[in-house]
Amino acid sequence: MKAVIFDLDGVIVFTDKFHYQAWKRMADDMGIYFDETINNRLRGVSRSESLEIILERYQGTPLSLEKKTNMLKKKNDIYRELLSAMTPDDVTDQVRITLAELRSRGFRLAVGSSSKNAKFILQKVGLQDAFDAVSDGTNIIRSKPDPEVFLKAAEFLDVAPGNCSVVEDACAGIDAAKAAGMLAIGMGDAYRYKKTDIGIKEFCELLQVI
Ligand code: BG6
Ligand code: MG
Repeated sequence: MKAVIFDLDGVIVFTDKFHYQAWKRMADDMGIYFDETINNRLRGVSRSESLEIILERYQGTPLSLEKKTNMLKKKNDIYRELLSAMTPDDVTDQVRITLAELRSRGFRLAVGSSSKNAKFILQKVGLQDAFDAVSDGTNIIRSKPDPEVFLKAAEFLDVAPGNCSVVEDACAGIDAAKAAGMLAIGMGDAYRYKKTDIGIKEFCELLQVI
């Protein structure tokens, strides 16, 4: 292994709760049923694909493209407002120490996230210099489970995909890592997923498994 690629939401920072709150407010305003179980299906999935999943419960008149665009903007505005309150305290010492230790062992580190807000989040929590590359929703066409975001991260790092590990909390992210030909390390929801190569319960376990 030469590189480690980290998912952001749910691995490095716990922004999942903000995604949930923002979608919930948007769905409530539209009278659409939305709960935590539906929210779990949105992990790793792009913003526009997430909206389509939420709209499976929508029973009103067909929505125009303009209306959907407005809904996406509204969700993102609420989400950004919630993110703006984040500080470096939103990253655990365990995450900071583990990242620094991996780097000192010579691993190249990258973020591989479907989010278009990834760089904003890294800046808010003071991790903008902790990674050698960031591949995110702004440089991909297809989101996870497609491997594009991780293959781009490997390309940015100039490391062959077979020499990269991915750390993920979403099953869609594990599928993406395997499709990219990378070692898939799963935590949270992805800990017991059938395609996960190695499950970890604590972030610091990376220092033992890589
Ligand atoms: C992923 C999240 O990291 O980013 C998804 O797991 C989210 O839930 C996706 O939909 C896109 O995020 P953003 O910030 O571009 O809306
Ligand atoms: Mg995630």
